[in-house]
Amino acid sequence: MQILGIETSCDETGIAIYDSEKGLLGHTLHSQASLHAQYGGTVPELASRDHIQRLIPLTRLVFEQANSSEKDITAIAYTKGPGLIGALLTGASFAKALGYAWKIPTIGVHHLEGHLLAALLETPAPTFPFVALLVSGGHTMLVHVTDIGHYTLLGNSLDDAAGEAFDKTARALNLGYPGGPAIEKSALNGISGQYTLPRPLTARPGLDFSFSGLKTAVINTIKKTELNNQAVADIALAFQDAVIDTLIIKSKRALEQTGCTNLVIAGGVGANKALRNKIQSIGNVFFPSIEFCTDNGAMIAFSGYQHLLKQQIDPDWAIEAKARWSLADF
Ligand code: KG4
Ligand code: ZN
Repeated sequence: MQILGIETSCDETGIAIYDSEKGLLGHTLHSQASLHAQYGGTVPELASRDHIQRLIPLTRLVFEQANSSEKDITAIAYTKGPGLIGALLTGASFAKALGYAWKIPTIGVHHLEGHLLAALLETPAPTFPFVALLVSGGHTMLVHVTDIGHYTLLGNSLDDAAGEAFDKTARALNLGYPGGPAIEKSALNGISGQYTLPRPLTARPGLDFSFSGLKTAVINTIKKTELNNQAVADIALAFQDAVIDTLIIKSKRALEQTGCTNLVIAGGVGANKALRNKIQSIGNVFFPSIEFCTDNGAMIAFSGYQHLLKQQIDPDWAIEAKARWSLADF
């Protein structure tokens, strides 16, 4: 069977077709990064309008890529939340309209579950149980995953998420938006050891994260520094190292606490190559391919398929989206 997946929770329109026998048949993605760059962050109304324009062309394209047609589709999965409400509603409405017209069920997927399961699209896929380090623009979490649908939150962000700290630090260094890739690029030219930044909450026990103090430490460092290209690169590297060290220390602790050996990285910050290289040493580490770390339709199609197997489909045609939706409620 084939599942159409639709992702519109933030500033990426992602569409994919997942086949239960053959795996991923195709996926298309449009990033709105350049649309929002001049504002230094995602503008919700512009995001919704752009999703509306992209949904139909990207869906047509994915059917061509997959050499598939609407008759092959068994169900439609879409991101129901959390995210920007207007953006979510564009994908939810589109999914419901197609499902109603094609007379097939729709499945509202939790965006974070999509990220948590993205590594299962890869070969070899991680086996359960595993600890997932979910590091995105909105979340920094350690989650104990014992099976599909069995998620225990081990640690959470108390303030800024890791990706948000990358974005805010990049803005402070005038590196542009989105900040993660910009910091990563600048850090390549950085000299290590020029600046020392804290590894927040690592000196005491526990698995929660706090990156807001680190961001403030960067801003204070910038105030005391004459910002030439080299200084920017050095600070970018010091910041990136501080985030990576913190993520590694906490992930190691989570593996010890749960007795798991498998660690799965998920979410946009998981695209960071320095993080991917350094974190390898702490266990059997699995990553989604870089394109499936950031938001995409493939992870939504795959999660939707898992729910379909359990007959967990939308009960009616009401269009529902949840801007806030904790993984614990889910
Ligand atoms: O998972 P994602 O695409 O969207 C959310 O669900 O939030 O994550 C986006 C976040 C942004 O904060 C972005 O700056 C960060 O992931 N990011 C990165 C990299 N690529 C994206 N952070 C560090 N290094 C990267 N290469
Ligand atoms: Zn995401």
